[in-house]
Amino acid sequence: MMQPTLLAVLLGFSAVAVAAAVSPASAQRRHDPATVARVDALLARMTVEEKVGQMTQLTIGVVAAEGTPQRDSVRIDPAKLREALVNRHVGSLLNVVGGSLTLDGWHALIGQVQDVATRETRLGIPVLYGIDFVHGANYTRGGTLFPHNLGLAATFDVDLARTAGEVTGDEALASGLPWNFAPVLDVGRLPLFPRFYETFGEDPLVTATLGGAAVRGMQRSGRVAATLKHYLAYSIPRSGRDRTPADVTPREVREIFLPPFAQAVREGARTVMVNSGEIDGEPVHASRYWLTDVLRGELGFDGVIVTDWEDIYFLHTRHRVAPTIKDAVRMAVDAGIDVSMSPSDYRFTDALIELVREGTIPESRLDESVRRILLLKAELGLLDAPHPDPAHRRLFATEASVRSAREAARRSITLLKNDGGILPLRRDARILVTGPAAASLTALNGGWTYTWQGTDASHFPEEPRTLLEAMLRRGSDVRYVAGSGFTQAGDLGAALDAAKNADVVVVAVGEDAYSEWVGNIDDLTLPEPQLRLIEAVQATGTPVVLVLVEGRPRVISRVADRARGIVMAYWPGMYGGDAIADVLFGEVNPSGKLPFTYPRHPNALATYDHRYTETTNNDFGRGPGGFNPQWEFGHGLSYTTYAYRDLRLGSPSIGPADSLAVRVTVANTGARAGRETVLLFTRQHYASVTPSMRRLRAFRTVELQPGESRELTFTIAADDLRFVARDGRRVLEPGAFDVMVGGLTGTFHVTAGGTR
Ligand code: GLC
Repeated sequence: MMQPTLLAVLLGFSAVAVAAAVSPASAQRRHDPATVARVDALLARMTVEEKVGQMTQLTIGVVAAEGTPQRDSVRIDPAKLREALVNRHVGSLLNVVGGSLTLDGWHALIGQVQDVATRETRLGIPVLYGIDFVHGANYTRGGTLFPHNLGLAATFDVDLARTAGEVTGDEALASGLPWNFAPVLDVGRLPLFPRFYETFGEDPLVTATLGGAAVRGMQRSGRVAATLKHYLAYSIPRSGRDRTPADVTPREVREIFLPPFAQAVREGARTVMVNSGEIDGEPVHASRYWLTDVLRGELGFDGVIVTDWEDIYFLHTRHRVAPTIKDAVRMAVDAGIDVSMSPSDYRFTDALIELVREGTIPESRLDESVRRILLLKAELGLLDAPHPDPAHRRLFATEASVRSAREAARRSITLLKNDGGILPLRRDARILVTGPAAASLTALNGGWTYTWQGTDASHFPEEPRTLLEAMLRRGSDVRYVAGSGFTQAGDLGAALDAAKNADVVVVAVGEDAYSEWVGNIDDLTLPEPQLRLIEAVQATGTPVVLVLVEGRPRVISRVADRARGIVMAYWPGMYGGDAIADVLFGEVNPSGKLPFTYPRHPNALATYDHRYTETTNNDFGRGPGGFNPQWEFGHGLSYTTYAYRDLRLGSPSIGPADSLAVRVTVANTGARAGRETVLLFTRQHYASVTPSMRRLRAFRTVELQPGESRELTFTIAADDLRFVARDGRRVLEPGAFDVMVGGLTGTFHVTAGGTR
């Protein structure tokens, strides 16, 4: 199936964290005049039907031959292809049919499509083919697969995010796929949300910085278009279920959800995909305010806006804001969409032609969208070279790419608990490995892996290793008992017998792969069969280490206290088994930090930037019962220890146009080299909108040898301290602020405010 300079400060982001990204010069794409002239000349020759066809996107299944299993390659039905491209003038296709294709499969498919598009249609305009490479080249056999964004965010490493984007974009190019529906820039504010793993976690700055870097990397060749999705506030449905209404105020949308899109637009993102949900009762596909006034008017986005799957029709069939399909088409085109991911029929195409013929929609409105689409195709090089270039194959699954995916997986692993130094494990220890994630490749890779749901292990190459296989290759006495399924009870007796004869039990639990609404749940608690397995093994008295392989933080408070060690692996990708085992055996000193707040209870879901009143307990005092998560945002242990000293502020006060230098020393006080991510927060003592207890303003990772210390300098611009007031403007209000780094706090004042 079926994302410090002027803008950075406007969005309240630390220039330190985004300095590399934003520059006004890159803010608005300048189109080459010759290209614009070429596109306008083409546009002038187009009929209404041809223009509407360019705005239509179909899934490849519509033109595929019936019956064959459609994996590794896709067999096309020539008549259906001609109906789509020649008769209906369709300008874009997407997706796979039965799952991943080989490089040859993609080249053959795209080549066949472009042959018809360029040789048999009147104007010979090539097709723009879209795909979901969301954690590497996950729909091309042998593609390099990274951790999903949630794990990538745990590295807090901008360079790693950019590299993952580069590899993904390069392998899309190698596959002949010029349009990638990534990165997800939805901010992960609700762990129930089944697409939580696709987010960069709960903080807007991390999402904007890593997401913006991913866009830069993905588009570096100039031949691949990234897609910012899903615009806007898609990830906070009040039910926690995919594609259900979000009850967020416009103020909160601007404070939390809009900044990552603004940042990525400044990075030059070429396309945006719309959210399938609703903001405050308004489906975004029907919102001229969000799609045109804000995205184009305020953010200056001049690229292509594509709907999500069937979402125009859903205005009629689900959201029920459109009495007919034709009304739905009118509403979405009026709101500002350019391409309809229809994706399985021609109702959009027919309705739009009718709307233009009857004068409801002027042809000039089509010209706006079709110009953007043709400019995109021209600037991706499609008009001159529509066929996949075999020379790009050299970009595919290179050793460097695999190394970066391995490194990303290692760096994502987050050590949450290590009582009595149970970790790292001794290689000669008697180790029992059990639990449903131990021998699962699909759990390591999660959704969007070779198939939409990621659950078909038959697509996986021979080579990668499950956690169990990786453990067997490292330990001298490793035994395995399944213990339980993800949702089904297993043979507890066998697990207990084996646990009694082990020095330590590694229980790999969590979630098997899922995508979108298939991952909807009603209870964030880890499923009962898995909790029972853990409790039974704990009852034997053998020390237990939990490995959490999951797309979102399942609640494990029932077993966390008795576990000696706990490691969060997220969905670490193809090299995740090795990465986890490297951490468990101490080959790698873990450095990941939680990019979200890990809930202790299924209904206690406050995020790190909560308000004071969310910290008070039942008698309105401070303390347990208020904000009391299992683990806080930014939590992550190491096999060494770090100390923070000498927090110094450059000035006791700053004016609205000033910046504050913040210096802090970090020391490695342990016996192993390690990598520490330094998180800098601020807190405004009083404000006209209830202030957060803290907001992340900058982050940076440092590598320190044992005994080494390093002074870091951060620069916080006064503009970074702006927040969105109730009238929607970004305001800076004078008053006292705290800076908090590594448990140290300093206070300064902003002497005067300002509004933009
Ligand atoms: C899906 C997803 C979207 C994806 C699109 C194409 O419904 O919501 O993220 O890019 O369809 O597969």
